[in-house]
Amino acid sequence: MMTRRIVFTVNRQEHMLEVDVRESLLDVLRDRLDLTGVKKGCSVGECGACTVLIDGEPFDSCIYLAVWADGKQIRTVEGEAKDGKLSKVQAAFLEANAVQCGFCTPGLVMTTTALTESDHSYTKQEIKKELSGHMCRCTGYHNIIKAAEKALQDKGEQDHDCCGKCHQ
Ligand code: FES
Ligand code: FES
Repeated sequence: MMTRRIVFTVNRQEHMLEVDVRESLLDVLRDRLDLTGVKKGCSVGECGACTVLIDGEPFDSCIYLAVWADGKQIRTVEGEAKDGKLSKVQAAFLEANAVQCGFCTPGLVMTTTALTESDHSYTKQEIKKELSGHMCRCTGYHNIIKAAEKALQDKGEQDHDCCGKCHQ
């Protein structure tokens, strides 16, 4: 087995690990760091359940080698709630009843979070396109899109102090 030492940040905490060069980031997060909120669905980059943010961008961690994460900032769903308070994206999913079994939810929350942190204003069609890499067997997607729209709408409200001009 060939191994390499990597240093990366996961949910604001730095880790130094010796990893097998063939190991996926998903397996390292789940099996070594116990971050089981990152779900293992298809393992081949098709379902989106394993999505994490790497330097702010969503990636399928099942097809991302752990060695590539060296020097990178990783975010998983475990790091999103702060001081016992859900993130605005998590709260939007809850409010919209966008969760049934919950297996797809952590990945969807992370991709939606990346959308809320970008400068772009997303239309409903664009939201659907951005989330199209996520499979959900339970919800029929309707409430998921509603949740993402709500989170993105809240982003607009929180991004600037309202001067009232946009309402005129
Ligand atoms: S488990 Fe990674 S995309 Fe399905
Ligand atoms: S809520 Fe069950 S797979 Fe999406």
